[in-house]
Amino acid sequence: EHAEGQEPRRILLAGPRSFCAGVERAIEIVERALASRGAPVYVRKQIVHNAYVVDDLARRGAVFVEELDEVPDGATVVFSAHGVSPAVRAEAERRGLDVIDGTCPLVSKVHAKARRYAARGDTVVLIGHAGHEEVEGTLGEAPESMVLVETVDQIRELSVPDPERVSYLTQTTLAVDETAEFVDALREKFPLLHEPPSEDICYATTNRQHALNAIVAEADLVLVVGSPNSSNSVRLVELSRRQGTPAHLIDRAGDIDPAWLDGVRTVGLTAGASAPPALVTEVVTALGELGPVTVEEREVTRETTHFELPWVVRGTAEQST
Ligand code: F3S
Repeated sequence: EHAEGQEPRRILLAGPRSFCAGVERAIEIVERALASRGAPVYVRKQIVHNAYVVDDLARRGAVFVEELDEVPDGATVVFSAHGVSPAVRAEAERRGLDVIDGTCPLVSKVHAKARRYAARGDTVVLIGHAGHEEVEGTLGEAPESMVLVETVDQIRELSVPDPERVSYLTQTTLAVDETAEFVDALREKFPLLHEPPSEDICYATTNRQHALNAIVAEADLVLVVGSPNSSNSVRLVELSRRQGTPAHLIDRAGDIDPAWLDGVRTVGLTAGASAPPALVTEVVTALGELGPVTVEEREVTRETTHFELPWVVRGTAEQST
């Protein structure tokens, strides 16, 4: 029984939210590598940008390293979902490492375009965030021909060898609306800009933004489950704030400050593509402990994307049982 006159707080779940197909595949690759090769299995960088996922796999025998020099000769190493530059692949081969590639197929597609556009003589403008692992990997495909831009102003100031030979690519996890402004600026600056046949921002990033857009106006507060280094999760927080709804990024339910909920009737809840569904459930439970709640879900689209595992780990689930 809640206090008289006290309406239950509404939790409005955005759908789709949480794991994407690329993250599910990357995690399954590590699990299968552990099952078939046994611990330790080395993983270069965080397999996906989520603290809970990384801690869980580390407990089960995955050893996360920053660079290949931390991996012993002959050991198994998994490349993370964000991809690696050709230089890293070459180094792994030189070292004779047993490589299992967890790169999301949608990131690999962007790499293939980078190679193709650079090979035809284009300057390839990459829209993205400096220092992000995906960006480092993509830039590594054609470092001489590529230039990273992080702001629209950088596009205005760009100088390239041949303005008639320019193409562009983006990080897969950018904000759809912000990226459109970058592309407009590129078209203005380079009227003969080569447009890619399809967008690089992935289906999961796009869907999570559309889903949040569909609930953000009704929410007094938005909670995004995700880790601070998760690009697509941070974009969701920014999207909400741009629409005028306060938002917080939380790794776990324990990060919720009850003061955030003062006067909040509707909590919009979503999760980045690297955040496990179980953590969303944990947040719903925690909100319920702070007072009566109702839970409603608004699903803007249903995701059916699924990626095949690399052949080197296919069939290992059977062996492990
Ligand atoms: Fe791949 Fe997009 Fe997920 S690039 S890892 S499907 S967020």
